[in-house]
Amino acid sequence: MRLMTLSVAVFTLFFATVTLADPIKIKFAHVVAETTPKGIGALMFKERVEKQFPGKVVVEVYPNSQLYDDDKVMEAMLLGDVQMAAPSLAKFGQYTKKLQVFDLPFLFDNLASVERFQASKSGKDLLDSMQKKGYKGLAYWHNGMKHLSANKCLRTPEDAKGLKFRIQQSDVLQAQFEQMGSSPQKLAFAEVYNALQTGVVDGTENPWSNTYSKKFYEVQKCISDTDHGYLGYMVVTSSRFWKGLPDDVRAGLEKILAEITVEVNQKATQLEKDDRQKIVDSKRTEVIKLTDAELNKWREVMKPVWKKFEKEIGEDVIKAAIEINKAK
Ligand code: LMR
Repeated sequence: MRLMTLSVAVFTLFFATVTLADPIKIKFAHVVAETTPKGIGALMFKERVEKQFPGKVVVEVYPNSQLYDDDKVMEAMLLGDVQMAAPSLAKFGQYTKKLQVFDLPFLFDNLASVERFQASKSGKDLLDSMQKKGYKGLAYWHNGMKHLSANKCLRTPEDAKGLKFRIQQSDVLQAQFEQMGSSPQKLAFAEVYNALQTGVVDGTENPWSNTYSKKFYEVQKCISDTDHGYLGYMVVTSSRFWKGLPDDVRAGLEKILAEITVEVNQKATQLEKDDRQKIVDSKRTEVIKLTDAELNKWREVMKPVWKKFEKEIGEDVIKAAIEINKAK
């Protein structure tokens, strides 16, 4: 009788362990609004993963710097406090210098060029450039091409001289603004609105969806449509977490990410137009189109930045990007 009770207890315990095993939890933290390409992508990821692995994988999305800013999120990932994030490519400088290629001003003409580069061998190799630091790059997602905004209208680099600009954590972007004779200040994304509103900085650079969703345009007199650089993301995880996933889950997540990436990038291309238009329609700021001659002046002023970072990034990587950009 005793033996039977014991067997029942062991069976019950076994059954409970198998059926009530904790689901795999993926915390995905990011800093932007849910209506931007990254915000939309993170939510799509949650929806599709939970549909494909009901009860087995749970995804919690934390937007708007709710959990961490982009510096902290990378540390948190190695500690296992967060499993996924998608910081801007400009923010990986302390982990690899190669990704700085994406910050070089006027290297890519548009999102389509960037996408061709990301899909090339050089681009794909860069996804593994942080392996030694314990990170695995899973995908690239676009936000958009950047414009310059300020509390005055900027037509030529002369206009930006002496102004203070908020920048992301990137030495390339620092050099870019120094070339313009401006003072760059590295600030977390969550601090940008206040810094612009209170005059801690005079201006900044952003893609349209960030300027729109965070209302930066309401506290900037003018936005110059320069498309001078790219802002995009690497969806990243810790190598340890990724390797530790059951094979079927890892394969499933990879497939879902590949599908979502196509959709996020299409959405980003659409939002570049839509959010720009919403800002124009708001009449809260002036959006100025520059002439080719004016744009060339920005190009000339910023161009020396390429040479400065050529060694760190690798001449081969820059050359590949130039070729792909030309190859339309
Ligand atoms: C920024 O800090 O301006 C961007 O990296 C924010 C983002 O994630 O788009």
